[in-house]
Amino acid sequence: MKICVIGTGYVGLVAGTCFAESGNTVICVDVNREKIEGLKEGIIPIYEPGLKELVLRNSAEGRLSFTTDLAAAVKASLVNFIAVGTPPGEDGSADLQHVIAVAREIGRHMEGFKIVVDKSTVPVGTADKVRQAVQEELDARGVGIEFDVVSNPEFLKEGAAIDDFMKPDRVVIGADNVRTAEIMKELYSPFMRKTNRLIVMDVRSAEMTKYAANAMLATRISFMNQIANLCERMNADVSAVREGIGSDSRIGYDFLFPGVGYGGSCFPKDVKALVKTAEECGYDFALLKAVEEVNERQKSVLTEKLIAYFSRENATAPLAGRTIAVWGLSFKPRTDDMREAPSVVIISRLLEMGATVRAHDPEAVREARKIFGDRITYSGSSQYDILSGADALAIVTEWNEYRNPDFDRIRESLTRPVIFDGRNLYNVRRMKEIGFEYFSIGRNAAGFVEK
Ligand SMILES: NC(=O)c1ccc[n+]([C@@H]2O[C@H](COP(=O)([O-])OP(=O)(O)OC[C@H]3O[C@@H](n4cnc5c(N)ncnc54)[C@H](O)[C@@H]3O)[C@@H](O)[C@H]2O)c1
Repeated sequence: MKICVIGTGYVGLVAGTCFAESGNTVICVDVNREKIEGLKEGIIPIYEPGLKELVLRNSAEGRLSFTTDLAAAVKASLVNFIAVGTPPGEDGSADLQHVIAVAREIGRHMEGFKIVVDKSTVPVGTADKVRQAVQEELDARGVGIEFDVVSNPEFLKEGAAIDDFMKPDRVVIGADNVRTAEIMKELYSPFMRKTNRLIVMDVRSAEMTKYAANAMLATRISFMNQIANLCERMNADVSAVREGIGSDSRIGYDFLFPGVGYGGSCFPKDVKALVKTAEECGYDFALLKAVEEVNERQKSVLTEKLIAYFSRENATAPLAGRTIAVWGLSFKPRTDDMREAPSVVIISRLLEMGATVRAHDPEAVREARKIFGDRITYSGSSQYDILSGADALAIVTEWNEYRNPDFDRIRESLTRPVIFDGRNLYNVRRMKEIGFEYFSIGRNAAGFVEK
């Protein structure tokens, strides 16, 4: 099948590459000329495990190409995916300007029947707006060309995007037309070989499904973070509680790890957008508002522990003149994505309080530099380099290389053996045995909470 994917970011590049991998001819389009020129030379603009190999192979075999020429790509393709960004607007609602701009471009250039697929995360009712935008452009041209608009929200996770796309838990297709639904089924059939996990529904329900899924996951995270905070105050251990509730098959273990709050390009903006959508139809989504507020507060929990700890020595300016080493910058492991990363809030606060920050991340240093510039120092190679002479280690992202580190080396490098772990990577009792002061989230058996 001939496809074009408009928007070559995390979603568009992965989707386009995976469709090419299953034999389709795919043109990836972007307005960012530098990105497209790089991709033509095999330079992948994002870090995503396994992506580079697939891009190179499919490009070499002629199934995958990159262009800024949207008109030519649309003319050559039956299925046109819109995978551009939908960042939050000032009021929290999804900003649809890029989606609608692309819809207009499609309407301006299409010559025969087209399927226009909303792959970006867009609020209920967006497919109608896309349909209207395409139609207006066709009317302006004075041509009558058939087209369908489909909602096909994406559920991939950064860091596991290729696997998620190739072996999806489900694919949701919102289509109002059987012929188009059949074409979409055919396109996804290579990814459904073991069992059919393709769910076809009406367009508006498909649009809502994406928001409901992300809102549910965000809710679990905020719920567990509050349980953890309460555990600390009651001398209970959230890790035990997590196991205790996760074993209930109605609850399950996924998304029950407490931490320093969710981040990334999806949960924060999708929760905000759903609250806004509810408001627009006069409905108060009180639960989700609380989910968001709890998440904002959770981003301060680790810094509060640092402040409380160093206040014992200097109550008025606890972090002034301290050097804090930070492990992990990206919003989660296996990605370089820094959008809404808790690390940004944590590091900004440390700097405000007069601390010097040195940070390590295996992949996100380049992105972090765009945010912090020279205000912090970085290491993308050895996680131990930044520890020498630091007053404490704070762990913000749970990269695998932090799970089983050389504790002797950490102890020898820091001015004092103290670790603030925002991801509960280590065993509390063991840390005590090997001589660390160790503060984590919701495990107050050895935690430090200011009473
Ligand atoms: N990142 C994720 O994990 C994820 C997962 C599921 C869904 N989504 C959703 O998918 C959508 C895309 O997300 P992303 O993370 O890939 O975004 P991104 O910012 O990484 O990529 C978007 C791309 O679209 C391009 N673009 C913007 N306007 C354009 C235009 N008019 N024509 C052509 N290209 C244009 C940008 O240059 C950019 O390269 C969003 O709606 C997001 O919510 C993202």
